[in-house]
Amino acid sequence: MNLPPIFPGEKTPGAWKERRTELLRLLSEYEYGFTPELRLTGTSCTTPWTWTLASGVRVETHRLFFEKDGAVCSMRFELFFRPSAQPQPVILMIDVFDASPENLRHPELGAYSSARLPVERITEQGFAAALIHADDLCSDSPDTFTRGILELAPRQGASGWGAIGAWAWGTSRVLDELERDSRFDAGRAAVLGVSRAGKTALWCGAQDERFAAVIAAVSGCGGASLLRGKTGEHIRHMTSSFPYWTCENYASFADREDELPVDQHMLLALCAPRPLYLSDAIEDDWADPHKAFEAAVLAGEAYRVLGAKGLSAETFPPVHEPIAEGGIAYHVRTGGHGLLAYDWEQYLRFLSRLWKA
Ligand code: GCU
Repeated sequence: MNLPPIFPGEKTPGAWKERRTELLRLLSEYEYGFTPELRLTGTSCTTPWTWTLASGVRVETHRLFFEKDGAVCSMRFELFFRPSAQPQPVILMIDVFDASPENLRHPELGAYSSARLPVERITEQGFAAALIHADDLCSDSPDTFTRGILELAPRQGASGWGAIGAWAWGTSRVLDELERDSRFDAGRAAVLGVSRAGKTALWCGAQDERFAAVIAAVSGCGGASLLRGKTGEHIRHMTSSFPYWTCENYASFADREDELPVDQHMLLALCAPRPLYLSDAIEDDWADPHKAFEAAVLAGEAYRVLGAKGLSAETFPPVHEPIAEGGIAYHVRTGGHGLLAYDWEQYLRFLSRLWKA
């Protein structure tokens, strides 16, 4: 397995600065596409529609509008929080399953299921949550993904952006909004996603260093799991079913993963030195938990160079035994693909310890 190195030369914080820029360029060119400079001519957010749940959790629905030379698209997000005098840390959850027919096939991935977004539990522990309907910007379909934000900034050439890039971009726009809202502490913002949205959370956190923590569940191929030597899903599968998620260059590495100038440990390294939590499910062979763990171990190199800790253990853990003491945390739980209450409990514990919420 000829893995490209995170540091080809000097391992110093100074060398990392340049390497970081280079890794972002490589991952853009060969995997996710370049995020365009959008030069919007206008953005706005509608006055939220608000209500309070029986539990006391306040819900606000917002819609962001993006305008460029007369073309407009929009994206919804909801905020869940318990009113407080102190600015609250916030977890931004990327949701692309809302409008997708897959929602019906994978009810556990669907928005609002209480296991998937346990707002009572989250807000009880002093966090706010934002649920971002990123598929409003770029629908998760090969036929319609070019509507929305890609009308304002089309996918151009073999390294033009796709849905993952667009969803990540939209998530950063919600953080822009939260930065202007004194009820929230945008300096303690975590981006979180599951599965395809987990791949997106990693790409978003890699690019946008304002996110103080990054959490990805079962992100698999094109997410946390190394492509080289992977079982389950390969570039070939991913790009034949979802060619619009990544850039076109990525598909040309189908069955030649070994020649790809990047691999996923580099994506994880781009989160350094910020806290990163990865989780998997033991029956999820399609995602390949072992390869995600391996990538996390390797990414620790960038953390250590920057004076932080990587994973605190280097042997794949038994189920339900999280490794969460270092800057990179990992757990694998029983069962299959999805996001469960058990996963949330670990993430909240990790963030509480970090931010003493
Ligand atoms: C498919 C796809 C995966 C993806 C998953 C999901 O299984 O092959 O790459 O992570 O859908 O988003 O649920």
